[in-house]
Amino acid sequence: MRGAQIERESDYLPQAAKLKQMKRGLIERDRKEIDMAKEAKITIHPAFQTGEISERLFSAFLEPIGTMVNGTMYNPKHPTADDQGFRRDFIDALRETGLPAVRMPGGNFVSSWQWKDSIGPLKERRVHLDPSWHQVITNEVGYDEYLQWAQKVGTRPLVTVNMGTGTIQDAMDLVEYTNHRSGTYWSDLRRKNGHEEPYGVKMWYLGNEMDGPWQLGSFSSDPQGYGSKVLETAKAIKWIDESIETGVCGSSASFMEGFPAWDEAVLDVCYDVVDYVSVHHYHGAPPGDVRALLGGSLYYEDFINTEVAMMDYVAAKHRSPKKMMLSFDEYGAWMRPNEPLHPGLGRYNMARVHYRFDPERQYVLHDPDNMPEHTFPGGDMIHALSMASIQLAFLRHADRVKIGCMTGGLDALASADHDHVWKSASHYVFTQLMQYARGVSLRTGVECETYDMAGYAIDDTSQYPGKEGVPFIDAAAAWDRENGRVTVFVINRNEETAYPLQIDLKGFADCRPLAAYTMRSDDPDAKNSYGNDRLIAPQEITACTFADGILQIRVEPLSWNVFVFS
Ligand code: AHR
Repeated sequence: MRGAQIERESDYLPQAAKLKQMKRGLIERDRKEIDMAKEAKITIHPAFQTGEISERLFSAFLEPIGTMVNGTMYNPKHPTADDQGFRRDFIDALRETGLPAVRMPGGNFVSSWQWKDSIGPLKERRVHLDPSWHQVITNEVGYDEYLQWAQKVGTRPLVTVNMGTGTIQDAMDLVEYTNHRSGTYWSDLRRKNGHEEPYGVKMWYLGNEMDGPWQLGSFSSDPQGYGSKVLETAKAIKWIDESIETGVCGSSASFMEGFPAWDEAVLDVCYDVVDYVSVHHYHGAPPGDVRALLGGSLYYEDFINTEVAMMDYVAAKHRSPKKMMLSFDEYGAWMRPNEPLHPGLGRYNMARVHYRFDPERQYVLHDPDNMPEHTFPGGDMIHALSMASIQLAFLRHADRVKIGCMTGGLDALASADHDHVWKSASHYVFTQLMQYARGVSLRTGVECETYDMAGYAIDDTSQYPGKEGVPFIDAAAAWDRENGRVTVFVINRNEETAYPLQIDLKGFADCRPLAAYTMRSDDPDAKNSYGNDRLIAPQEITACTFADGILQIRVEPLSWNVFVFS
């Protein structure tokens, strides 16, 4: 999203109107026509494995903007607030999901974050401006609170180091404060601040979107300079704690002018000291254009393929036996209105878009108890599918994509307003993936109808080339040997047509279906709410047949489906 504001629900009304029409059309349609849809087929085989699925593939990203921290995570006046002011209703809801990891606090905010001013007695903490989001940071939720909140949720924090205004020394002190046992200034300060044990943070990102001209302390025109800073910082912090892993920023979107040459130039300098390339991507589609929204995961796949090729090329140049992995530590897909384009002002007009000086703009102080209405985009069926489609793309590339932190992932798992917490449609998709996408990822051979997408631009930076042959059936599969389970995940991207679907598992001896779930909604505007969080929820499917290793089923328009086999 970079500098864009999170849109309000009203921005999505055109989408709703269009989808309503679509729904009417569907209901009026002749049933026979639906049944004439070409049959789709998915084949999986134990011999065709892609790679181990990392536990951190289905994680979340948290940044203190909007109400994500002040209001949802932290509100000392909330009836369930604990002694640190954290909402226990939110903690409990997340704890129940088994969320493996959270990148926190992350995003543009971190590039001027002075973590040292966020620790120690509350009254002594310094209040700072966060120029990237024009907000006042009171540091009531400081570094220790983030890590302790993660402990309460039972999830692992993935920490981002300030590489914008921060120094190598700041990063070294941060790791010493966090992970060193005792006997040094910083580790003893942590103990004095009430945390005797080291936090043991494993994953450290070295900067946020450092290729972006919008980033404070950006290296957009100096990839080698960034690579050198990463080299020296990673070396230093790994010497403080040899067990940690580090991530270096690659492109913050495949639209970036420097992509993929910027990434290569960076990695060329620091290949030996980093373990992950951290990339971000936000897909946008015009309101109402479901096919462009759900086809978005194809751009993710292009991005993954290019990054992997780039990483392997650099490895070859360095004669390195190390295999670099990818971390998508921010991602999302939303419908959003087009912004005016400025043709002729440079390739992507990055500077015009992101250096907006607005004398009217005021710094905002977020009062956690004055939380505006729930405004995070998503929560409906279409956006549950668009996020799921990206998650399936990660699963298909599980051999190289090892971390995936969904932007708004906490909201997807536990939607919250000022008072309550509930389960959105995304909650069910996300938790089913956490539960069933384990073990190894299997290749899915998909035969089905396809559609073509015309190229389009949402704004000066988000420009999409057209795509031909987008499969209506979006699938991924996992083989969890430990639990003796094979699971096939299927999205039907078609807004009109239900498909008869065959899933061929003949390669798995003695395989039989254990459970099948489907989730869809007739009403594109429908969202779950507090007290009504099964309005959109997975239903168990009973109408299917299984014989000779083949499951026959019907997948409804715009549906999420999970088929579990023993
Ligand atoms: O999620 C909002 C912003 O999007 C993050 O701060 C930044 O990293 C990305 O561009």
